Amino acid sequence: MSLRLGDTAPNFTAETTEGKIDFHEFLGDGWGILFSHPADYTPVCTTELGTAAKLKGEFDKRNVKMIALSVDGLESHKGWVNDINETQSTTVNYPIIADEDHKVSELYDMIHPNANESQTVRSVFIIGPDKKIKLIITYPASTGRNFNELLRVIDSLQLTANYSVATPANWKHGEDVVIAPAITNEEIPSKFPKGHKEIKPYLRTTPQPNI
Ligand code: BEZ
Repeated sequence: MSLRLGDTAPNFTAETTEGKIDFHEFLGDGWGILFSHPADYTPVCTTELGTAAKLKGEFDKRNVKMIALSVDGLESHKGWVNDINETQSTTVNYPIIADEDHKVSELYDMIHPNANESQTVRSVFIIGPDKKIKLIITYPASTGRNFNELLRVIDSLQLTANYSVATPANWKHGEDVVIAPAITNEEIPSKFPKGHKEIKPYLRTTPQPNI
């Protein structure tokens, strides 16, 4: 059965470009992002891994450990990392899982046989400090992901984990948020001292509470 939001992210051990890991130990008490790549030495994946490396400081700021996966072997990964560093003007600074036996990609349902029988699609799993899956995104091999969008989503996940709010369409860090429907009007002043606007009884906004 495929994984769904709220499920515990399955644990595994794997060889990576930074040594053998136990996934849950690797995540520790923080957040994690696990993202798969169809294969080594492919053009879109090369740009994605380079982009992710350049943004590692932003993931670190949010206490999010990054880990990539590709279904090729460790020696192949090591050679490819040299190419990524050279062509993307960066240094890959997070582990890449060598999932030659498809153990992890099958555990996380990253191979969609009607798209490709042996390569993974571009899966993204964001995992909270409680090891529960907070977000799943699936892109086809032909479309590179937007890593700034992943950071935006993490900002929303981390905010909504701590406050009774939700983030509206296209929301970005610093913009007003939506008050959760479960909050009564009487509770608003104590929970949202920065004030609020009632556009409709079910659509109430407030300044982002954690800035
Ligand atoms: C790529 O990363 O460029 C790619 C991988 C598989 C299929 C198509 C593109």
